[in-house]
Amino acid sequence: MKKIRLGIIGCGNIVRHFHLPEINKNVPEFQVVAMVDTDPSRIRDLRRELLPRKRVTAYTDYRKMLREARPDAVLVSTPHTLHFEQCRDAFEVGAHVLVDKPMVTSPTHARRLVAKARKADCRLMIATQGLYTNTLAYARKLVTDGTLGPLQLVSAVLAQEWLRYMVGSWRVDPKLSGGGQLYDSGCHVLSAMLHLVGSPAREVFCWADNKGTRVDINAVATVRFANGCLAGITSGANCNTMYAGLFVQGQQGLLELDPFGGRITLTLGEEPKPVEGVPRRFPVRTVSPVRNFADAILGRAEPRCDGHLGVLLAELVAAFYASAASGRPAAVSPRAPRGARTVKPKRGHHT
Ligand SMILES: NC(=O)c1ccc[n+]([C@@H]2O[C@H](COP(=O)([O-])OP(=O)(O)OC[C@H]3O[C@@H](n4cnc5c(N)ncnc54)[C@H](O)[C@@H]3O)[C@@H](O)[C@H]2O)c1
Repeated sequence: MKKIRLGIIGCGNIVRHFHLPEINKNVPEFQVVAMVDTDPSRIRDLRRELLPRKRVTAYTDYRKMLREARPDAVLVSTPHTLHFEQCRDAFEVGAHVLVDKPMVTSPTHARRLVAKARKADCRLMIATQGLYTNTLAYARKLVTDGTLGPLQLVSAVLAQEWLRYMVGSWRVDPKLSGGGQLYDSGCHVLSAMLHLVGSPAREVFCWADNKGTRVDINAVATVRFANGCLAGITSGANCNTMYAGLFVQGQQGLLELDPFGGRITLTLGEEPKPVEGVPRRFPVRTVSPVRNFADAILGRAEPRCDGHLGVLLAELVAAFYASAASGRPAAVSPRAPRGARTVKPKRGHHT
């Protein structure tokens, strides 16, 4: 079978420790043909370590790579505010795109990217790994098949020692990061919440504390969704332990899960005790973003996290920042992306 020729834009930590080892191990359909990084030593180290004896062309300019290598697909893994132009230009040469989270950091860019992908007839996917797990697929099923009953409330909690490790990096420079913890690790929690609620956010209120930096470190936010669900979010980046959790309350039950995948506990009103884990016979398996990307390009699977979620996320976080800046509630852009679905749970249905 002909290989999918892959170009990698940005050769930093996540490519080195997550995507490329996974491609080597589980995605033989990809042939890495080109790598781009403004720091050539990053490419050199990566090739020596993970692609020895492979023919891979190194570039410092992604536009030159797109022009010369003409990849079938690209993986974009650079600081957040660079994603928009790099993805857009990849679509110009007809390449499918898998972009690391967050897709982009502006609702306008998000909508333009989705339109561009559609016009180019290319895949636009986001590497938010929780969305690729059976945990999130099972949780979503419990919402959409009515097991939880009509959604009432979501509580999202994130705690990380992010600030200590990120001081001095591009992540605390808003020109490159587009924002702080809400867009960085917060993106995982918010994406899982948006995926499960399945309805666009309408209005938010947010307080953010930058802790003397130029980006949000700690934030609390509330959200009102179009389907009536309400949510409260606590996004922390200055805590010397790590936790991420989502509590989803329906009229008939409660779900607690790890938005990165893994832990999940279902408590239904009439059941004697909580049920832990995804049932063994649940048909959806956890896959990596690069595995699903290859399958989606080859028409073997649907993308588990595509550009529509990137639009919903960018609209939500933009409203959080607008509210935090004004001290008032902020409306979320009413222009929900075409194709975004509002999930209507079947009333009173139990599995
Ligand atoms: N899913 C996850 O759990 C997870 C974890 C970490 C990072 N990420 C995401 O992955 C992306 C990269 O993060 P990272 O931690 O690997 O960062 P990093 O700083 O380790 O790597 C970024 C790389 O991009 C390069 N770069 C900067 N400007 C460039 C340009 N104009 N053209 C080409 N290369 C350029 C840098 O030299 C660096 O090597 C971000 O979107 C981040 O949010 C996701």
